[in-house]
Amino acid sequence: MVNGETKTVLAYPMERLLDVLRVDLGLSGAKEGCGEGECGSCSVLMDGALVNSCLVPVLQAAGTSVVTIEGLAAGETLDTVQQAFLECGGAQCGICTPGMILAAFHLLKGKPEPTIDEIREGLSGNLCRCTGYSQIVDSVLEAARRRVEA
Ligand code: FES
Ligand code: FES
Repeated sequence: MVNGETKTVLAYPMERLLDVLRVDLGLSGAKEGCGEGECGSCSVLMDGALVNSCLVPVLQAAGTSVVTIEGLAAGETLDTVQQAFLECGGAQCGICTPGMILAAFHLLKGKPEPTIDEIREGLSGNLCRCTGYSQIVDSVLEAARRRVEA
């Protein structure tokens, strides 16, 4: 399942999930930064866990439920985390942003009201070259506040 829809692809078992998502399924939201599991820009959710899709062979994803950044919005309505990143300047060049948003989404599922340290820890697998992280932390705090109030 990808973003709630059943998908069938013809792929070599060891093809990277990242490539199958981007090339075979046309979901270019997940980005390739390092290709080595270090930067988190390729992050997606697989059965609710945050994974680096550059390290996941597609055979491992068979039978699981994968959510990419494209699956967070409900039609034209952005998820709260996406909206907060947009409004708080959490994105600059945007390469890290899909992975960062999915990591923040994953963090807020487990910790609806994280501290700044918990946000930094929760996003520690996702690297950003542009923002200095302050606006990203602000975005997550704002998303958390909106989700708690909703
Ligand atoms: S591209 Fe996957 S962790 Fe960097
Ligand atoms: S916004 Fe450019 S790498 Fe994070």
